[in-house]
Amino acid sequence: MKANTKISSIHAREVLDSRGNPTVEVEVTLEGGGFGRSIVASGASTGTHEALELRDNDNSRYGGKGVLRAVANVNEVIAPQLVTGGIDAADQNAVDQFLINIDGTRDKSGLGANSRLGISMASAHALANTLGLPLYRCLGGMSGNELPVPMVNIISGGQHGNWSVDLQDFLVIPIGACSYKEALIWCSDVRRAMWALLVQRGKAPNGVADEGGLGPTLSSNEEALELMVDAFTLSGHESGLDKDVAIGLDVAANEFYDDMSYVLHCENRRVTAQQMIDMQVQWTSSYPILSIEDPLYEDDWEGWRKITEKIGKGIQIIGDDLFTTNVNRINKGVEESTANAVLVKLNQIGTVSETLEVIALAKREGLATVISARSGETEDTTIADLAVATGAGQIKIGSLTRSERLAKYNQLLRIEDQLGSEAKYNGRKTFGQYLS
Ligand code: PGA
Ligand code: ZN
Repeated sequence: MKANTKISSIHAREVLDSRGNPTVEVEVTLEGGGFGRSIVASGASTGTHEALELRDNDNSRYGGKGVLRAVANVNEVIAPQLVTGGIDAADQNAVDQFLINIDGTRDKSGLGANSRLGISMASAHALANTLGLPLYRCLGGMSGNELPVPMVNIISGGQHGNWSVDLQDFLVIPIGACSYKEALIWCSDVRRAMWALLVQRGKAPNGVADEGGLGPTLSSNEEALELMVDAFTLSGHESGLDKDVAIGLDVAANEFYDDMSYVLHCENRRVTAQQMIDMQVQWTSSYPILSIEDPLYEDDWEGWRKITEKIGKGIQIIGDDLFTTNVNRINKGVEESTANAVLVKLNQIGTVSETLEVIALAKREGLATVISARSGETEDTTIADLAVATGAGQIKIGSLTRSERLAKYNQLLRIEDQLGSEAKYNGRKTFGQYLS
């Protein structure tokens, strides 16, 4: 007998994220009793072209960051129409198309991307619950067996690390590991080594940054690169693009872009776009850097084209703020040969189906994909399943501390365990196009 998977009720509430800011939680119940819940994440270093997150802007509550309007949009506007419409959770496209149509605006600002994404993800969870399948199977079918290579945050700067350094993330990429489980052990070794080094050099920070990374105050961005190499050595893992571990960077250049130039706060200097390119090209020849995200401002297509042309054959160049998980911007990137990889964030675009479409497009165009958490996260683990379901190849969640990060890392350990001998992990193959 076919299970009844029509959506019968939807309920949203305001809960808190890892920064203590309000966000939207949605519960979806299906006619046959299936139940799904999800919580929407929230960024700090956001790109201008992201779908808009609706906030109350009422300064008397949570400093204006409340999401009661988005919650009311779910409970009072979307839910009644979606339920009366007899929408079936078994057809994720139909659910998401309904959400897109009901909003009617291009940047999804009408009802808020946070309201729609909460419903979209909770609906997927409710279907998986009805079918008695893990979410990665429900979204990906039988082909979802590949665990993503984690890019783990070790040093945090920029918006997330109180500008200890200007670059937002210095990450370890465990390319040489044989399994996801082993990859995590290596990343944990590197993080512990970094802590020991910072203590030894009198630079240990008091707390952790938004994504759990260490935010030591350093005199230059390059000092962080030197520390990464030293931490690799101390951890006992060989670094290099043909070795065990390599460096990933999220420059998040938007955050220190100002009036056609870039302000390097920790170095007390301002550089031009060309100098930004030259500096990063130089770094790639001096350090084992395998991946660079957002090396330049989000609308400097010409600069992006130049840096991709210079180093894009041997280095992964990821567009986050550049692409904002948006098919139109990725198509423009393909036309203009900018970047060779796409960062994928559900809430930048606002529904599960649109996210799947972006991943499919990236794959068709030969662009690598990295599923990413936001700096404001929760216990929601949807992205872990999404990464396995789509065989995305890579995931970026933050550091190996703070439970909103570990919830996802642990979900991937769970999936790897459940898959048993079926589980695949392709550390080196994932980066094959840059390593050959
Ligand atoms: P955000 O940071 O969630 O603050 O945008 C993550 C990233 O830039 O990759
Ligand atoms: Zn980023």
